[in-house]
Amino acid sequence: MENSVEKDIYILGIESSCDETAASVVKNGREVLSNVISSQIALHTLYGGVVPEIASRKHIEKINQVIDQALTDADVTLQDITAIAVTYGPGLVGALLVGVSAAKAISFATGIPLIGVHHIEGHISANYIENKELEPPFVCLVVSGGHSHLVIVRDYGKYEIIGRTRDDAAGEAFDKVARAIGLGYPGGPKIDKLSNEGNPDAIHFPRAKVVGSDYDFSFSGLKSAVLNYINGCKMRNEEINTADVAASFQKAVVDVLVEHALAAVKEYGMDKFAIAGGVASNAHLRKAFEDSCAARKIEFYHPSPIFCTDNAAMIGVAGYYEYLAGTRSGYDLNAVPNLKLGER
Ligand code: KG4
Ligand code: ZN
Repeated sequence: MENSVEKDIYILGIESSCDETAASVVKNGREVLSNVISSQIALHTLYGGVVPEIASRKHIEKINQVIDQALTDADVTLQDITAIAVTYGPGLVGALLVGVSAAKAISFATGIPLIGVHHIEGHISANYIENKELEPPFVCLVVSGGHSHLVIVRDYGKYEIIGRTRDDAAGEAFDKVARAIGLGYPGGPKIDKLSNEGNPDAIHFPRAKVVGSDYDFSFSGLKSAVLNYINGCKMRNEEINTADVAASFQKAVVDVLVEHALAAVKEYGMDKFAIAGGVASNAHLRKAFEDSCAARKIEFYHPSPIFCTDNAAMIGVAGYYEYLAGTRSGYDLNAVPNLKLGER
């Protein structure tokens, strides 16, 4: 491959924190040359959720194949790669270890620098892929299966968490409610779809506020309210309109997310707002933010759905900015299941 006068930077991103084995090659931080995702969703659906032991085993089976495919699709070889970025936390320890071990082995064999990346930093950075003009500072709402964070992105790699969930993550609430109404795993996309046929105002579910903390979330009360509603219907032998339950539950989640996020944008004097994580692919959430941001003259950014759920392109992008900042990891890099954003 020919290099231009200013040397191009190619990052090989690797992600294996949950149930997706993924690898990607990203050029100069914003151009995704390949994005290979081997999803285990079908396998875990059998058990109604992710089974950590099965996830680790599947990652081991797939990881080399996925990395090879990412290089092939990008039309590069390891010789072209400037640095290897790998998710080292947070996530399932056994799952994380597979990606981390593969990245360390390649780095050790080739001498290519190794960079450990925070999974949430990856989710936030997914916004840079299709929004070439987006630069910090901005407010980002990260809503995934494991996290609900309201983050001030001060600069590349510089984050201030101003709100978090006190109990369930937003995606977790979607998954639990979906299971309760018989939709199966993963619940988010199924509720998203079914809610199109329901009335979001049919049932009033609570919008929780966390006392003394404007930006924290709590979704467990909402989940209980949905379960109580379902049980009540069953006891009274009333038929449950699952589409109405899905639409009303989803509206309760969306209302709270929009209210908290826009209050933060105003309070912190920002004019840019982004969403990230699996739940950010929710069509109703995106529409609600589109409308409310337009009304307040706030620039709204979101990744395409394929870059919202777990992928390695986002890790490649985050790895690029960490590379520029001089971040390098040693061969003692380990999986850190509860890694905090901004910690090393
Ligand atoms: O970011 P992600 O792929 O994995 C984590 O880092 O957790 O997020 C997965 C979560 C799951 O809870 C899934 O149900 C939810 O994102 N999700 C959605 C949608 N697509 C995925 N939630 C609501 N609407 C969707 N369209
Ligand atoms: Zn994720």
